Amino acid sequence: MTAPAMVAEFDDVAGWTADAAEQLGCRHAIPAACRGSADPAALAWLAEACELGPGATLLDVGAGVGGPAAWAAQRFGVQPILLEPMPTAGRAAARLFGLPVITADGRRIPLRTGSVDAAWCLGVLCTVEDKAAVLREIHRVLRPGAPLGLLAVVAEGPLTALAVPEGNHFPTRPQLADLLAGTGFRLVEQVRPAGRTPRSWSRRAARVTALVTAQHRTEPAHALAARQGERFTHLFATGRIATWLVHARKEDT
Ligand SMILES: C[S@@+](CC[C@H](N)C(=O)[O-])C[C@H]1O[C@@H](n2cnc3c(N)ncnc32)[C@H](O)[C@@H]1O
Repeated sequence: MTAPAMVAEFDDVAGWTADAAEQLGCRHAIPAACRGSADPAALAWLAEACELGPGATLLDVGAGVGGPAAWAAQRFGVQPILLEPMPTAGRAAARLFGLPVITADGRRIPLRTGSVDAAWCLGVLCTVEDKAAVLREIHRVLRPGAPLGLLAVVAEGPLTALAVPEGNHFPTRPQLADLLAGTGFRLVEQVRPAGRTPRSWSRRAARVTALVTAQHRTEPAHALAARQGERFTHLFATGRIATWLVHARKEDT
């Protein structure tokens, strides 16, 4: 069962975010809808590493409100397919960007085997207990040799006795490497994001967040999601968790 705080964060706040982005104007949509902490530099690294190009299908697993996929379509000409289990988030992505959204779980992807040119999965694996099941399904739907881009939040050490955001299970980097190898992926490269988000981007995202807070601060879902955010911020600030960008390839079989 999905933790209530995750429903608040990934469904309620996702829908409010899309509403606020629409109210503030379309320039706000992509920055506000990148909800896995990806910024333009991180997305560009993933797109270049995965050699995305015009017309290629990009399956975004756990696409949320669709910001990263919309960015990749705009900048690299890919044809995104979004897969997102939270219905409000999926509807928000379809509304904001007019992209095709499949409402489904990453552990059971309703696409044909070997039918997808590239996949992204950004900020998702730490929210899933059975990470191998998601990676196996992504592996199945990718064509042989196809790239997978991950934005992974990993544990830098033991997290026991710390306040971890509800429903999150952070792998360590060695565990992530083992998971990729065990599900048929070759880990090509992994880097820390540069962390220099342009102010023009973060300002637009912050305006949307401020409007969401102004409109929904009294609702229980807002408080639940805010507590998740505070726990993330603390773990990042104290170096207990960190973000890595990962490029892997489906092994040719
Ligand atoms: C931190 S958000 C990231 C959203 C998006 N990838 C982005 O970067 O903006 C994590 C997303 O993973 C989705 N998710 C959680 N469990 C999932 C699963 N089993 N299969 C697919 N997506 C899942 C959540 O609904 C949420 O939208």
